[in-house]
Amino acid sequence: MLNDKIVVLTGGADGIGWECAKAYAKANAIVCILDKGQIPTLQLNELYGQQNLAITCNLINEEEVAAAISTVIKKFGRINAIHNNAGIAHPSKSLDQTTNQEWDLLMNVNVKSILYTTRYAIQHLKESKGCILNTSSLTATIGQDNHAAYVATKGAINALTKAMALDYAPYQIRVNAVSPAAVNTPTLQSWSNEQPEKEQMQQYLANLQPLGSMPAGDVIADACVFLLSDAARFITGTILPVSGGAELGYRTLIQPKQI
Ligand SMILES: NC(=O)c1ccc[n+]([C@@H]2O[C@H](COP(=O)([O-])OP(=O)(O)OC[C@H]3O[C@@H](n4cnc5c(N)ncnc54)[C@H](O)[C@@H]3O)[C@@H](O)[C@H]2O)c1
Repeated sequence: MLNDKIVVLTGGADGIGWECAKAYAKANAIVCILDKGQIPTLQLNELYGQQNLAITCNLINEEEVAAAISTVIKKFGRINAIHNNAGIAHPSKSLDQTTNQEWDLLMNVNVKSILYTTRYAIQHLKESKGCILNTSSLTATIGQDNHAAYVATKGAINALTKAMALDYAPYQIRVNAVSPAAVNTPTLQSWSNEQPEKEQMQQYLANLQPLGSMPAGDVIADACVFLLSDAARFITGTILPVSGGAELGYRTLIQPKQI
């Protein structure tokens, strides 16, 4: 589905991003992962036998992002898609408790990194008539207690997705976002361990989604493959919930029914 597309994926070393990396490679893309953590690219290449690229990059550092994009261009000569997936959710605090440093870090990782990847890759996306995908969150639409700064970053991503879609449509560049609810990733596990009443947290997170369970990142990755593919060639400016219906409204917590 993504035959020979060069996909730049931020935050692809773990969680949803790692599932996206595997799904993109399986769909015959070449994946260039930008992450500050340990990137399991060898495993990716062993699984799919391709020349996927791992670039250690702290996305809050503009020079590192510029250098990473330049490395991709030197190796492959083009970029077909950027998936801005990297994100942090820490800390669990109301706004008045949030320090300047915490606010700045959340904004820099989750939002300003999109400015940097766009700044250095847009010319290449114009040449390829490529696309941009942002990982948002359902919290941008419905809010979340104790995470005001994080929610603000995801609200900014939704707004950016629409504004960027308009700015780049004349160049045939599509810009979309995926919006998960709760996804079972290492980060979510450590987050739930930090919450009060952590024993009930797993059940709470599963119950959030009317389809009845908390998915792994592969569920998000499958939607991302679609949005990056030519099958989505007339879709732009969309914030796609991949949330098991978590945004659908008031309901009682009815367990899955037996047929
Ligand atoms: N897990 C969920 O329930 C959930 C729900 C909604 C949205 N999301 C969003 O999905 C995305 C991925 O979340 P996840 O749960 O897979 O997280 P994760 O922590 O498992 O993965 C995030 C990746 O981003 C990388 N990263 C973080 N800061 C970075 C930086 N400064 N520079 C480079 N890389 C950096 C990390 O090293 C990691 O590999 C995030 O944008 C998150 O907000 C997650």
